[in-house]
Amino acid sequence: MEDNNVQVTNFPDGRPQRVQPRWRQDFPIDLEADEYGARRDFTKFMVLTSLAFACGQLWIALLSTFRGRSPREQRIAAVDDVQVGQAVGFHFPTQRDPCLLIRQSENEFLAYSSLCTHLMCPVRPELEQGRLHCPCHEGYFDLGTGRPIAGPPRRPLPRIQLRIDRGIVYATGVEERAS
Ligand code: FES
Repeated sequence: MEDNNVQVTNFPDGRPQRVQPRWRQDFPIDLEADEYGARRDFTKFMVLTSLAFACGQLWIALLSTFRGRSPREQRIAAVDDVQVGQAVGFHFPTQRDPCLLIRQSENEFLAYSSLCTHLMCPVRPELEQGRLHCPCHEGYFDLGTGRPIAGPPRRPLPRIQLRIDRGIVYATGVEERAS
């Protein structure tokens, strides 16, 4: 059972109980107990804060581990299925990432993310003009480099790294570029 007749002998301001304010008489706590409580609360606060900080660091480390990992190589198309001057769509590294594979010449393939770096509208190939066109705000990218040449986009399209092996074109990675 709780003891309601707690004898307090040492108030924080050092004055006797009879001159203490009413609220302190209602909640009498010894100075030692008060300090003990404060230290205990401070320790609890520090432990919880440290724990939250450690969890945050762990989360960041996990994210960077998985982000830094190269995506799994993916087959895009057979060389013979893409004509010179043709573009075909594919998704890489996930199904939420649309891309374009472009065959520029007999031996030259290029691939870019097809999401405009302005506001993520899908770009369309205009191969005869040597560019990719974003119809949302009339943005244009150079076909050979993926760099913006007109309109609001400021960053190049991410380039998809390719590997050709035994007549098959594979996507092997994504090269993000700042300028
Ligand atoms: S979204 Fe492409 S130009 Fe704006």
